[in-house]
Amino acid sequence: MSTEVKTGLTVIVLAAGGGTRMRSKTMKVLHRIGGRSMIAHVLVAAQALDPERVVAVIGHQREAVAAHIHESFPDVVLAVQEEQRGTGHAVRMAVDAAGEISGTVVIAYGDTPLLRGDSLRAFADEHEAAQRAVSILSGIVVDPFGYGRVLRNEEGDVEAIVEEKDATPAQRQVLEINSGILAFDAEFLRSALPRIGNDNANGEYYLTDTIAIAREDGLTVGAHAIDDVMQTEGVNDRVQLARIGAELNRRIVEGWMREGVTVMDPATTWIDADVVLATDVTVLPGTQLLGLTVVGEDAVVGPDSTLKDCEIGPGARVVRTHAELAVVGGEATVGPFSYLRPGTVLGERGKIGGFVETKNAVIGDGAKVPHLSYVGDAEIGEGTNVGAGTIFANYDGVHKHRTTIGRHARTGSNNTFVAPVAIGDGASTGAGTVVREDVPPGALAVSAGPQRNLEEWALRKRAGTAQGDAAEAALSGGAADGVSDGPGAGRGTPRPMAESD
Ligand code: UD1
Ligand code: CA
Repeated sequence: MSTEVKTGLTVIVLAAGGGTRMRSKTMKVLHRIGGRSMIAHVLVAAQALDPERVVAVIGHQREAVAAHIHESFPDVVLAVQEEQRGTGHAVRMAVDAAGEISGTVVIAYGDTPLLRGDSLRAFADEHEAAQRAVSILSGIVVDPFGYGRVLRNEEGDVEAIVEEKDATPAQRQVLEINSGILAFDAEFLRSALPRIGNDNANGEYYLTDTIAIAREDGLTVGAHAIDDVMQTEGVNDRVQLARIGAELNRRIVEGWMREGVTVMDPATTWIDADVVLATDVTVLPGTQLLGLTVVGEDAVVGPDSTLKDCEIGPGARVVRTHAELAVVGGEATVGPFSYLRPGTVLGERGKIGGFVETKNAVIGDGAKVPHLSYVGDAEIGEGTNVGAGTIFANYDGVHKHRTTIGRHARTGSNNTFVAPVAIGDGASTGAGTVVREDVPPGALAVSAGPQRNLEEWALRKRAGTAQGDAAEAALSGGAADGVSDGPGAGRGTPRPMAESD
């Protein structure tokens, strides 16, 4: 509706302030909620404006903030504000850094992570359609303390913004506040910035003074109150960080439920902003879906699982699992109590069972590692079954080595695969095998020596103990009623007969 008047759009994100109330080594805008830094949420929202350029004003801890922005948003122009002399001064730094700007300039803050792109879009559209010099995204709040108040005349036209500290008691009664998000005609902004003074309670250059300047110039000014005022709420301390973080999560979880995801307990379900869920996914209580995790249709995740940067295939079942950078194939099952480390790839209909840890392990379609195993640096072919309690000994103390197991192999319980080693297709290994040499396809490998029984060993070496007694009773033919001491008897339990028998 506004495209004709617009000749380009610049977004300026202010993030130079120190954020001392966070009491943190980490700069305020770099604190994360929903899997992104606060400033990243704002920069993502800014993308909805399809801006010609985005400028971020940085000051405190500028190296860390610059590095972070540079990594995820390489196109963002950085403007350094050495000293925090007010929002008007900060915007001046941004305009200087941006070079030629025209069209519309939208100002936002780096500490308002709930801000949505569609709200910014609607605000900018309205500003451009009304052809104003300045538009204010305002909000009506119950407790306006600390905010700049939007002052209107009898006709309801916006006259000025007055900051809390500079306001009269009557002005402090005003409940319409400046959210901080403003839209400017670029030409007006450039003419107004040098005219902002610092004769106020803070001795700062207030960007908000541009409202009165526009009125003096006889230009159009307007304010539009956002319904969802939380979107513009800034985070100043860690109490607010948690509250806004929980609200962001509530919104994300609700959004997915509306998209057809079943969430049994929204209160204990945490979903990061970049996670993608298909329809008919079920998320059970106590589950965190983090980072770039993607979950396919009909998959069931949880309870009590944390999946970070994982890809879960359709129809998979992931129970009580901690996983990072892992891929789980369709219809596969994982858990309970499984630990999938980076590089785990489980094929379709595969299984990683209870108390199994995997790392850099490619486990083929239908292959199973059902119980109590460590699978590191391994490749397991399709349809293969790995016996309970198997260790892939991948580390010789200096280097990591790989183990390869072919298709449809059957390895016994309690094996150790001393890598590098290869087990062929259709091979087997006996229980307790320590595999140090390659096993050819179809072979059965056994490494334990023949079993030796040292007869009556317990009678000689364990005489007078419960073990010795039991052995003696069995060997003398009295096994059936040999349990003379009742259940639980043994060493450490008072046994009146034991020592003299
Ligand atoms: C500002 C507004 C106020 C509004 C409120 C909304 C002004 C003068 N006041 O007040 O009307 O109701 O936000 O939250 O604009 N910043 C810089 N450089 C500076 C000063 C600030 O980059 O020199 C950044 C801060 O890091 C922050 C933002 O600008 O992200 C707002 O600064 P802050 O000092 O919090 O402004 P308020 O006093 O809250
Ligand atoms: Ca503030």
